[in-house]
Amino acid sequence: MTAIMNLLEQQVAVITGAGRGIGRAIAMKLASAGAGIVGVDLRVEDVEKTALEVRGLGRPAWAYAANVTDAPGVEACAEKILAETGRVDILVNNAGITRDGLLMRMSEADWDAVLDTNLKGTYLFTKAFTRSFLKQKSGRIVNIASVIGLIGNAGQCNYAASKAGVIGFTKSVARELASRGITANAIAPGFIETAMTAGLNEETRTALRKQIPLNCLGQAEDVANAVLFFASPGARYLTGQVLAVDGGMAM
Ligand code: NAI
Repeated sequence: MTAIMNLLEQQVAVITGAGRGIGRAIAMKLASAGAGIVGVDLRVEDVEKTALEVRGLGRPAWAYAANVTDAPGVEACAEKILAETGRVDILVNNAGITRDGLLMRMSEADWDAVLDTNLKGTYLFTKAFTRSFLKQKSGRIVNIASVIGLIGNAGQCNYAASKAGVIGFTKSVARELASRGITANAIAPGFIETAMTAGLNEETRTALRKQIPLNCLGQAEDVANAVLFFASPGARYLTGQVLAVDGGMAM
């Protein structure tokens, strides 16, 4: 049996939004399984920190600044990444934002910002690496969706639409690329302790816990473990799947 620390030996993973939170945890998890890590985020200083920690594990790491909503910027970033690393085996589309508000008060700007980052960003990054996946006849795409994309949430119609979109996108890409040895799967996290959920007050947390059978919020590492599974050789026969990492919330 291959030890976990060698599962992804010689592989390179690109992770968007790797500067903090779930993206950072995914970077550390895949690095601890042997992968080289390319972190992408809005500010290079943030991904540099992640890259330093990855190098501390003895794995190669690169840090790039890119805005996932900017088509020419994403294209240029992917070209630089491929030139520098030689190959990419795993793409994790994790960058995401929320701009919550009830539908009646939802501004067009908040709608567009969330759809552009969460859905268009996933499309742009996936498209940018597909040619090289096709050439090498392998590739693992893991998209970070959300349980909100499965069940909806009052005050998050933009976020829910973007994450439901990510799920539909993942299944379509899975069907398009399956015959070329490329898989695409999605993870739907529930409520995870990160900067995105740090603002929730105690009352909201108590109410939330009541909806979660396992009775607690998740940790970024819980999501990272699921990404490792989809990226690992053991998941070769899975594609187009959505795995909820949510303490049982959306079952
Ligand atoms: P976070 O806010 O802590 O981190 C998100 C990262 O994405 C940040 O480093 C940010 O700079 C980066 N980012 C944002 N917009 C970007 C852009 N346009 N271009 C490049 N990078 C950008 O969020 P968290 O909690 O780590 O979330 C990560 C992913 O997990 C997101 O897609 C989020 O929707 C999803 N998720 C989070 C849940 C939670 O409870 N925290 C639950 C379900 C899904």
